[in-house]
Amino acid sequence: MADILNVGVIGVGGIAKTHFPGWKESPYTEVVALADINPEFLRKVGETEGISRLYSKPMDLIASKDIDIVDICTPNMYHAPLTIAALQSGKHVLCEKPLAPTPAEIKKMIKARDKSGKLLMTAQHFRFQGSAKALKTEIATGTLGEVYHGRSWMLRRAAAPTRPGFILKKHSGGGPCIDIGVHILDLTLWMMGHPKPVTVSGVTQDRLRKYPGAFSIWGGPIPKKWDVEEFAAAFVRFENGATLILEVSWLLNHKTTGEDMQMWLYGDKAGAHWPTNEILTTNNKTCQQLNTQLIRQEAGEPHAKECMAFAEAVAKGLPSPVPAEDSLDVITILDGLYRSALAGKEIRLNR
Ligand SMILES: NC(=O)c1ccc[n+]([C@@H]2O[C@H](COP(=O)([O-])OP(=O)(O)OC[C@H]3O[C@@H](n4cnc5c(N)ncnc54)[C@H](O)[C@@H]3O)[C@@H](O)[C@H]2O)c1
Repeated sequence: MADILNVGVIGVGGIAKTHFPGWKESPYTEVVALADINPEFLRKVGETEGISRLYSKPMDLIASKDIDIVDICTPNMYHAPLTIAALQSGKHVLCEKPLAPTPAEIKKMIKARDKSGKLLMTAQHFRFQGSAKALKTEIATGTLGEVYHGRSWMLRRAAAPTRPGFILKKHSGGGPCIDIGVHILDLTLWMMGHPKPVTVSGVTQDRLRKYPGAFSIWGGPIPKKWDVEEFAAAFVRFENGATLILEVSWLLNHKTTGEDMQMWLYGDKAGAHWPTNEILTTNNKTCQQLNTQLIRQEAGEPHAKECMAFAEAVAKGLPSPVPAEDSLDVITILDGLYRSALAGKEIRLNR
């Protein structure tokens, strides 16, 4: 392998812009090529980033012999075919979340990864945020004891992404479950130590967007063409007896001006809250209730850090910092949520 790993980025829209600084800062990588089906975006981003190798056909980038890492930043429905093609072409792949919208696609991606012997990572940037890393490190020492219940939510008030890549199922695979549910659910399962999910009872709602004048603070009026949910909630049971309540929404009359993202973890030694990183305990000898707070946390922009972590893993032959198996758990639950909502009852999951 050459000293510097050549990176090709596919899909140069909003999220790709947050990846470039990480590839630049990493001592192991350099972005050498970009691909996008929109030639105007491609030309503009090429100019801004100073990259002249531009492909309007992503498969041409994937076929390039000198590219070591492919960074996939397209809408969700294109993640699986592009990732599988890139792995088959001998590239390591960092793929935006969700890895894919269905468990079946993720299983195919895992097969392609195993056949290729290359690394595959899901871009779950919240794992690289200082407060999340600090809490995970603390929990790993046993501070909470056995975590037997979690409550997690990512709730937005009139804050839907209104681009077709998010609100049309044929591009996104789903609404806020698939867009932001993957963030808070991935973080929660990671903190809980990835217990095996066994059942889910879920509901979805599609209401506020239909009112005259409905708007998003990010995109103006809500487009008429929209076929995904706007709210979802679920109750999940795990094989180890733990449970989880999950709520996600882009449009909810909730007390926040933009986004409220929180996680509560309840263990038999202590509870914890993220992102404040408070640890809650009781001292039965003194009948005292103690609230302590984790203070130290790593600095750094998390999207950049996820790219740097992947670059280092590839360069040093380390395991994927966010393995595809973790994303399979996340999507198995969210796919179960959708199926349960349709069936109107709790359903059993086959992972
Ligand atoms: N981690 C995060 O915080 C975060 C935030 C936003 C989006 N995302 C994820 O990033 C991905 C892209 O979202 P975005 O906000 O950048 O969207 P975007 O619409 O801003 O950009 C997507 C880009 O992909 C291009 N594209 C579409 N189909 C393509 C194809 N088949 N091949 C090549 N290029 C194609 C589009 O022309 C566009 O330039 C989604 O999977 C989304 O879930 C992650």
